[in-house]
Amino acid sequence: MDHIAITVHRYNPEKGAYIEKYEVPLEKDRVYSVLNVLDYIARRIDPTLAYFDHAACRQGACKKCLVKIDGKVSPACTERIGTDELELEPCGGAVIKDLICGPGE
Ligand code: FES
Repeated sequence: MDHIAITVHRYNPEKGAYIEKYEVPLEKDRVYSVLNVLDYIARRIDPTLAYFDHAACRQGACKKCLVKIDGKVSPACTERIGTDELELEPCGGAVIKDLICGPGE
């Protein structure tokens, strides 16, 4: 596996909801989390992608990075990349922007 195709369900107040697709290269023999891939997209492909990337534990403890990964809500920092495509959606509650949600109802 030398790359992964990521489909992101995005939202912002100006454009509304839309789908964006990204191709992220993967280094052989390196273990990636979903958060690693989001970091790559934001730093190298699309700095407008919003996700929870600051002041977070990155160890599965704070749950601030929760996203829906192929339909299942998980922390992006501990979910390992194991396929060559993934679909990411906000985890629920009111979507503020892209993968960032406010408190649930
Ligand atoms: S960053 Fe804290 S659980 Fe993922």
